[in-house]
Amino acid sequence: MQIRCALVGMPGSGKSTLGRQLAQHSGVPFIDLDQRLEQTLGCSIRSYFEVAGEACFRDLEAQALADVAQQPGGMLLSTGGGAVLRADNRDVLRRFGSVFYLHALPEEICRRVQHDRTRPLLQGGNPLKRLRTLYAQRDGLYRETARHVIETGRSSVRTLVGMAALQLEQDLAADAAQRAAE
Ligand code: S3P
Repeated sequence: MQIRCALVGMPGSGKSTLGRQLAQHSGVPFIDLDQRLEQTLGCSIRSYFEVAGEACFRDLEAQALADVAQQPGGMLLSTGGGAVLRADNRDVLRRFGSVFYLHALPEEICRRVQHDRTRPLLQGGNPLKRLRTLYAQRDGLYRETARHVIETGRSSVRTLVGMAALQLEQDLAADAAQRAAE
């Protein structure tokens, strides 16, 4: 059995940072869906949003997610914050493997991303208001997609990696036991 794990959560919740370290810890490749998309597009997501709009971006994102999920073998997948917006994507993620929701409150995220100019949905005035709106729309979607919720609050990345790795081991054991019983 191989570790197949996806991270979901708000922009700025730490998916890429935690994902990279958890992948290293678990000995599986790390795939950042946004980075993949940027390689395919040949430009930043922010530029693509400006030129083509969010709807076109969501189509590409759904296609990229479906493609990655079809690849066999172990992997750690970090998704973009809006990947859970489509029901099809949520299904793909749930079937993909263990999904972790990296939970952070809008106020905390705002502190982390206040100087970040790469995230198109957080540009323009009042990022905290934007984050609160996104959180209200998405928190339930993240929770319905994920098998585990990780509170990112005050813990160090190292602690979070340890907690997530433990959960992954338990998931692998539970999945193996379920298979054996079938
Ligand atoms: C988005 C989050 C971004 C990126 C795109 C849209 C969103 O990823 O996919 O800008 O809808 O929240 P991060 O969550 O890595 O910032």
